[in-house]
Amino acid sequence: MQIDVFTLVPHAFAWLCEQRPLATVLGSELDLRLLNYRETTPLTGGQVDDDPYGGGAGMVLRVDTVAAALDATYGGPPEHRVIALTPQGRQLDQALVEELATEERLTILSARFEGFDERIVEHLATDPVSIGPYVLSGGELPAMVMVDAIARRLPGALSEGSGDEETFSAELEGGFEYPHYTRPAEFRGWKVPDVLLSGDHARIAAWRREQSRARTAR
Ligand SMILES: C[S@@+](CC[C@H](N)C(=O)[O-])C[C@H]1O[C@@H](n2cnc3c(N)ncnc32)[C@H](O)[C@@H]1O
Repeated sequence: MQIDVFTLVPHAFAWLCEQRPLATVLGSELDLRLLNYRETTPLTGGQVDDDPYGGGAGMVLRVDTVAAALDATYGGPPEHRVIALTPQGRQLDQALVEELATEERLTILSARFEGFDERIVEHLATDPVSIGPYVLSGGELPAMVMVDAIARRLPGALSEGSGDEETFSAELEGGFEYPHYTRPAEFRGWKVPDVLLSGDHARIAAWRREQSRARTAR
């Protein structure tokens, strides 16, 4: 899969690229390109944004800047999905992550300041997406959230089976995962449930299913 992230802050992604599971799939299952609008802007001095028509605070990412970035990268409007990150978009959930992880190519547009010129969302993007009902200062964190969530669904990203029964997975019918415990078996009087120490795999599996259902219901 190829994901192209358009951003004004490509170096913000350095940490994420060093971390698993992203680092595991980079260069094999995932080709991640970080593209800076300033490299292809048709305006002088690396300008990418401008004052809003009608007045008001803040700067708006220009439509010609984003169109030039897409043209320079794809030779015209891309034929694949183009996500515009905006708090006003469809909220990202695991179902959308699974859907996006099946795409061969994906473009993610991030903005800063007051956001996009609306024509970018209307004409250059196919999917406005939000990572949640709150406003961040820029699209870099949302883009990283999206790339990380997609990367862990790619083949080989996680060790065998570890992504199968995660919270929101189909295996758990979209519900919450069961609780995990590790050593010590008792700490300050807080005990690990006996069933997990029983060695009885059928009982453990039944207990986990029950815990998962109860947590989800709560
Ligand atoms: C300060 S925000 C702009 C908010 C915009 N003026 C509004 O009120 O809807 C700047 C940029 O950060 C990104 N952003 C902020 N919050 C986001 C969220 N919850 N989901 C996705 N992107 C977000 C978007 O790219 C957005 O254009």
